[in-house]
Amino acid sequence: MRQILVIHGPNLNLLGTREPQVYGSTTLAEINGMLEALGQELGLAVESFQSNHEGAIIDAIHAARGRSAGILINPGAYTHYSIAIRDAIAAVDLPVVEVHLSNTHKREEFRHRSVIAPVVVGTITGFGVESYRLGLRALAELTRNHEEG
Ligand code: DQA
Repeated sequence: MRQILVIHGPNLNLLGTREPQVYGSTTLAEINGMLEALGQELGLAVESFQSNHEGAIIDAIHAARGRSAGILINPGAYTHYSIAIRDAIAAVDLPVVEVHLSNTHKREEFRHRSVIAPVVVGTITGFGVESYRLGLRALAELTRNHEEG
């Protein structure tokens, strides 16, 4: 079964209690469970990873080479300024989909820019937990012809 790596960036471990009016009340564990279940329907093995550390996220992106068919990433605040995460994504030559729970374009000016967006296949923003589910469906299509092993 092809494998998809889901990466959650900083502060997303606090989902459920973190600004629920912005991010909803679903916990990260619940999101991961939903993605695993959807993955099973789509024939994908979903592995989830969360870190508050830029370097750990970069290491996870590198480690996906040769293991994962694609990456679903919510880079959190790193979206807006991490050239290092952008470069890691550009380096690995895997299909990557960027997702955000909130509509970043409706929020503060500093959230309007994504330095990640130019190196991903596409971005899904503003649908809450559904952003992740839509992103996983997109990756199922994008990796359809992925060679196993
Ligand atoms: C976020 C949006 C970012 O601006 C913010 O820093 C986050 C979450 C989202 O999913 O809406 O941590 O990526």
